[in-house]
Amino acid sequence: MSSSIAGIEKARIEACLKAETARFIDRNPRSRQLGQEAKAHFPDGVPMHWMTDWGTPFPLFVAEATGARLTDVDGNAYRDFCLGDTGSMFGHSPAPIMEVLARQGGHGLTYMLPTEDVPVIGRLLAERFGLPQWQVAATATDANRFALRWARAITGRPKILVFNGCYHGTVDETFVRLRDGRVIHRPGLLGQVTDLTTGAHVVEFNDLPALEAALAEGDVACVITEPALTNIGMVLPDEGFIEGVQAACRRTGTLLLIDETHTISTGPGGWTRKHGLSPDFFVVGKAIAGGVPCAVWGFTDAIAAGMKIAREKAGPGHSGMGTTLSANALALRALRANLEQVMTDAAYDHMLAMSDRLAAGIRAVIAGNSLPWHVSAVGARAEFVCGPVPPRNGAEAAVSMHGDLEAAIHLYLMNRGFLIAPFHNMTLTCPATTAEDVDALVACIAAACGDLLAGA
Ligand SMILES: Cc1ncc(COP(=O)(O)O)c(C=O)c1O
Repeated sequence: MSSSIAGIEKARIEACLKAETARFIDRNPRSRQLGQEAKAHFPDGVPMHWMTDWGTPFPLFVAEATGARLTDVDGNAYRDFCLGDTGSMFGHSPAPIMEVLARQGGHGLTYMLPTEDVPVIGRLLAERFGLPQWQVAATATDANRFALRWARAITGRPKILVFNGCYHGTVDETFVRLRDGRVIHRPGLLGQVTDLTTGAHVVEFNDLPALEAALAEGDVACVITEPALTNIGMVLPDEGFIEGVQAACRRTGTLLLIDETHTISTGPGGWTRKHGLSPDFFVVGKAIAGGVPCAVWGFTDAIAAGMKIAREKAGPGHSGMGTTLSANALALRALRANLEQVMTDAAYDHMLAMSDRLAAGIRAVIAGNSLPWHVSAVGARAEFVCGPVPPRNGAEAAVSMHGDLEAAIHLYLMNRGFLIAPFHNMTLTCPATTAEDVDALVACIAAACGDLLAGA
């Protein structure tokens, strides 16, 4: 058996992991104590169980964050390249959003009724993303769930199609994977009693013939995909692949949902606008209201007409779509302010320049150390992958993930004041990220590589 992983000796990974774990424990006594105290009423001491999955011996508790900086409860300062894994992609607490919070605070936060911001938001969304019709949800998960439900109602078809390795939030229908050509449940699912494999086709990303064969069965209501996979590491589409997906959907009367919750990093109109896509549904959440929980989903006039017919057919009753907090007054205010004042062309110009600088810097570190690694990027989102060639699909991407090696790098960076997204090696740059922040992260990654390679 090989004694190295992605060019790094296993023994060095283990030694680094051990040393960095000890250092993390030393640096974070207050986080450790809060984690212990919280265990009295929260399993594992966290308000969401996946918060223990960061690879740290206990969760890091945060004191505050502004712009591209975050401070933990022990007073350690971080240059934040995780940015809430997109929720804070425009920086922590952008000034226009702070103004909204202050102003709306005294006027009620949630009414279960629309406000005067709605027509303005509709116009802003249509201008920016090109789709004429919109709805607002509380999370991208909800937006995806609702859009898929409508897709089935409109087409009368039972299934969806996803790409292997996808993630679209906690949307039941999408929790399927491909193994040896068979659709299976995503490993680890809890409480699964219905058979999700009967409701979904799964094919590999960048495999147009497989997609076409699945759609030829005529039972797919909707293909849901990110334009580049970003949740199993980063998998970029081959030239023309997404356009091919769109054409195959058109030919077979299948609807297409483009989920831009992460790829909104591409630019002000997302990947969709940059590449001239014309999906039936378009979803974006997380950062769309500057960090206030909110998501939006857009659709065509034809879909709106299909919705009307589906509602008439269904008759009175519950549509299966709801959540009373959706489109609350605060979220609408923040959404409008974010679209008008935060998510600007100028903000993106800066974010993209910083991310290009970061990607170039990491590429130079990789080359300088002759590591079999690479960097992929989608606008302000960049990732270094500990594998020699960019994966073309979810199966290949899964093989490029090396838990212990990545955990060692993450801990090394955290212990020296840098946060990147957990679970893989993804970075985001925001309008407040400086060239100095970027160069400091590159230097720290170089130092981590030096440490891991020591003695090689
Ligand atoms: C592509 C994509 N869609 C949807 C979601 C779900 O977003 P939320 O957690 O806001 O429901 C995520 C979360 O990471 C995502 O990456």
